[in-house]
Amino acid sequence: MLITKIKKNSIICGDCSEELRHLANDSVDLVITSPPYFQQREYAGGNGIGNEKDIDEYVFNIVQIFRQCVRITKPTGTIVFNIGDKYVNGNLLLVPYRFAIEVQNLKLVKLINELTWVKLNPTPKQDPRKLISSTEPFFIFAKSNDYYFNREAFLEYKDKYCSGNRRSPSNDLGKKYYELIENSELSEEQKNIARKELKEVITEVRNGKLDSFRMKIKGIHALPYGGQAGGRLTQINTKGFTIIKIYGNSIRRDVIESTVESIKGNIHPAVYPEFIVQEIIKLLTHEGDIILDPFLGSGTTAIVAKRLKRNYIGIEIHPEYANYAEQRINETETLYSCELFI
Ligand SMILES: C[S@@+](CC[C@H](N)C(=O)[O-])C[C@H]1O[C@@H](n2cnc3c(N)ncnc32)[C@H](O)[C@@H]1O
Repeated sequence: MLITKIKKNSIICGDCSEELRHLANDSVDLVITSPPYFQQREYAGGNGIGNEKDIDEYVFNIVQIFRQCVRITKPTGTIVFNIGDKYVNGNLLLVPYRFAIEVQNLKLVKLINELTWVKLNPTPKQDPRKLISSTEPFFIFAKSNDYYFNREAFLEYKDKYCSGNRRSPSNDLGKKYYELIENSELSEEQKNIARKELKEVITEVRNGKLDSFRMKIKGIHALPYGGQAGGRLTQINTKGFTIIKIYGNSIRRDVIESTVESIKGNIHPAVYPEFIVQEIIKLLTHEGDIILDPFLGSGTTAIVAKRLKRNYIGIEIHPEYANYAEQRINETETLYSCELFI
């Protein structure tokens, strides 16, 4: 086995189960990829990954690639795999989770997040006795506890966009609740606490820390029930009220919404969204870092990496897709942050 230094900003046309062996240990900052899904399409003449007859064999093959990715990733780095699910005879196989559990069993990495892609335009399926699948996971694994993570950069446009466009709170924000507290059955002591907490939450909205809030007061509002309501019910019974805080993007949830890409003229049948790749690259890397995609396809990972002033290395088995990716990369300009794709 020849372990070489990675040549940055290049595409290798070949089989990643072979080509990854040539890449040096601890040499990339991020691996982000979307391997062929189980029995979804025929790549590599129908004998490659994804064309296995058996789900266990598929998971085994993907996990072997994953192991190589772990070896090649720096200790501060992360590995992101996006895998789709599959129905066989009307039964959902839970392919992504079978993969994630096998990876957990290796005990080489920690799963730090399951980022859920919510598809805004999912493919309508024909089976009228099933709901339409509209999510896919991006599993984010870290090689150590010292992984690079820039949480503020994730979906940061929402902060700028939302705070700039959000209507400023009206002058009588919370007035209705002050009146309700006044006329409620709460004791004077409870009313004082309720007024104090109401004042605090109004300040949080005015400072932009919260998007909005709701208040429930004993004897006035319907009582919450079930599940998460337990805590609120206790608050209403002990304090006489509860305040529900509504956060915007500031809490950085593990969800990202995007349409399924259909790029005009793209010859590849299964492209993942540039927007999601962009947000993950900003979350997990600095400018100048090296990003590897062992299943490059039409080059999405490399294109976004170049735009964001990161380096890339891609592997793609199909010469036609490798050439197409090369062409798309050559046409890509690096961007300034204000021009990010939203
Ligand atoms: C789901 S697609 C990736 C699409 C890519 N994310 C994009 O946005 O264009 C998977 C790709 O892996 C390639 N592939 C399949 N088996 C491979 C292997 N053993 N080594 C390298 N590439 C492979 C396929 O040709 C296909 O282009």
